[in-house]
Amino acid sequence: MDLNGKVAVVTGAGRGIGRAIAEKMAEHGARIIVADVAIDNAVHVSEDLNADGHEAEPIAVDVTRQSSVDRMTRGAVARFGRLDILVNNAGIIGARGWETRGRPNDRDWDTIYAVNVKGVANATNAVSRHMRRQNYGKIVNIASVAGRQGSPGNPPYNVSKAGVISLTQATALELAPFNVNVNAICPGLLWTPMWERIATRQTKYDAASKGLSPRKAFERTVAERIPLGREQTPEDIGNLAVFLASDLAENITGQAINVNGGARMD
Ligand SMILES: NC(=O)c1ccc[n+]([C@@H]2O[C@H](COP(=O)([O-])OP(=O)(O)OC[C@H]3O[C@@H](n4cnc5c(N)ncnc54)[C@H](O)[C@@H]3O)[C@@H](O)[C@H]2O)c1
Repeated sequence: MDLNGKVAVVTGAGRGIGRAIAEKMAEHGARIIVADVAIDNAVHVSEDLNADGHEAEPIAVDVTRQSSVDRMTRGAVARFGRLDILVNNAGIIGARGWETRGRPNDRDWDTIYAVNVKGVANATNAVSRHMRRQNYGKIVNIASVAGRQGSPGNPPYNVSKAGVISLTQATALELAPFNVNVNAICPGLLWTPMWERIATRQTKYDAASKGLSPRKAFERTVAERIPLGREQTPEDIGNLAVFLASDLAENITGQAINVNGGARMD
């Protein structure tokens, strides 16, 4: 898989899955814009990539604001002269304090929608303008197994990830005439800061997880839900993102591909 000469913007790349996607794409030759609302983390990831001999630049972005993603896009093109790949990875499980609430509240609904759905649309709008002009681009959206399958406790997140799959299909059709491929990845269960929040909430509100440490609650969930019996890793998602962003995937568009150890088979 060859990304030499390509420039990739990865949102939410300051930690977790986004960081691994940025690292994998850099390993395969791409120059990386490490975009995150947490700029200190973005700077840190960028420094690590540059120290390993790759080319990376941190940019502060809040994907909920169109003006911010427009600025990110201009910054990326100014820094590297082109923009070939967008990974819409930034996402949240709930608003501040979500893990201390048994049910999501209005703020959770609004914030999850703003980041997970509007955020993807905002960044796609900004970056695809550039991709249309160059008649080339690859967009990879990070959805979730939760977008395909209901799960108890956090409907706004399920709805938002189903929205990402739907948005992927609509955008794929819209951008196909401009030689832009748009696909989604549906990860299963990965131990990142996001899942630490989920597990913390489980230990408060899920009877079977009470008394367990967050990590043990996560392991219990993996054993219960994943046929292969093991958690997925950020590197697993990075590997598929590299493939979808490469020209090996030039005839794949509008798809949502599972990386979930067999938890869903559609
Ligand atoms: N961890 C899992 O098991 C899992 C499973 C399925 C899907 N996902 C999805 O994968 C993606 C990454 O998840 P993760 O587990 O690495 O989460 P994480 O919380 O560890 O990282 C999310 C990153 O997004 C950034 N971010 C949040 N809001 C932002 C905003 N408004 N603008 C820009 N950046 C913002 C955060 O600062 C953080 O760096 C998310 O879309 C998540 O929904 C995760």
